[in-house]
Amino acid sequence: MKKIFAERVARMFDVPDAQLREGMTDFMKEMERGLRDPKTSTLYMEPCYVALPTGKERGRAVALDFGGTNARASLVDLAADGLRVVRQVARPLRKAGAYDVTTRTTTREELFDFLASLVAEALAGSDTAQALPLGHTFSYGTHQEDLHDARLIVWSKEIAVPGVEGELVNALLADALRREHVNVKPTAILNDTVAVLLAAAFRSPGTAIGTIYATGFNSCYLETFGGKQPPMVYNIETGSYGHFPQNDYDRALDAASAKPGAQRLEKQISGRYLGELMSRIVQDGDGLGEIPVFTGEDVSRLVAEGSEAEQIVARALIRRSARLAAMTLAAVLRHRADADGEARIAPQPLAIDGSVFEHMPGIKEAMRETLSTLLSPEEVDGLTFTLEKDASGTGAAIAAVLGSN
Ligand code: BGC
Repeated sequence: MKKIFAERVARMFDVPDAQLREGMTDFMKEMERGLRDPKTSTLYMEPCYVALPTGKERGRAVALDFGGTNARASLVDLAADGLRVVRQVARPLRKAGAYDVTTRTTTREELFDFLASLVAEALAGSDTAQALPLGHTFSYGTHQEDLHDARLIVWSKEIAVPGVEGELVNALLADALRREHVNVKPTAILNDTVAVLLAAAFRSPGTAIGTIYATGFNSCYLETFGGKQPPMVYNIETGSYGHFPQNDYDRALDAASAKPGAQRLEKQISGRYLGELMSRIVQDGDGLGEIPVFTGEDVSRLVAEGSEAEQIVARALIRRSARLAAMTLAAVLRHRADADGEARIAPQPLAIDGSVFEHMPGIKEAMRETLSTLLSPEEVDGLTFTLEKDASGTGAAIAAVLGSN
């Protein structure tokens, strides 16, 4: 790839300040529209029916984490000093040449049997005379009416298994657990962002936890309705925000994805898609017949170890990701302040998890810098980012205990 080509591509990934400001205003409108009626907003804005933990939740539970790359089942004890993992089993959803439980030809029974067998393995040899509660961190957009179960709205992360969209996910899991003869009762289901919120609130109960921002982009937050209604945790499907302009590479990636047109912002921000954008740019720059494979991790590595041209492109991809993520975060923070009739965003901790935030070089600096263009310096100074590592398991266990009470 030539340097001059890389520089031209990098300019395509530049997001001017004015576009970010417009994006922030529009994102806030989408939030408000979604709060009035989720179906009219590309952000969904779904209530989650979970109470914030007091930090005193105790007990043994099963935590199941079903993300886009791996599934993990753990037997855990919630104790005064936090979470103790008694046993844990993790397995990728796709293994080249061996299996793949995410495709169009996978049956839903195959997918849920795969998850149930992980739970069975995590429990092997332990006493299950009494059914253990299970919390399920399910990192996809869902509609909930209580904490116990959730209907999948639409798959994201390139999962294409038919027969699950529109269905109650924990009911499908409970059927599979029965087939597997595992004495476990799913008592809660939650988005990974909500898991981050619960894990952070469990560790520092009573802290005014602000927007919780997982995996570099999606978020959930405590909607206060300006005190006119009881507060409620809301999940924003940030990745499905559909109004931000796409460039030629975004369009090509979207067209070739499992769901063209859907999850447009996720395709511009999240780690797995940053890898794919890199692949398409390298193919173009080097005139390759086939698309080379780059992962999100490759993109972080190329920032320091790539050729001069690769470094330019990798930095531009990460920078755009950070700026768009910060734009949505600023919108959520401003929305909350407005709802409470506050002129200024209150100082608050933001609990964050996810590979983009944890590993991409320069991401935190670029997020802060972008926040400074969208918020006042005092507001930005009051925000602290804390990395909430392995929150999926902790949050699932807390939710399992909350759901079994
Ligand atoms: C899902 C969100 C999830 C996010 C981060 C998106 O694909 O739709 O529900 O929070 O990924 O894992």
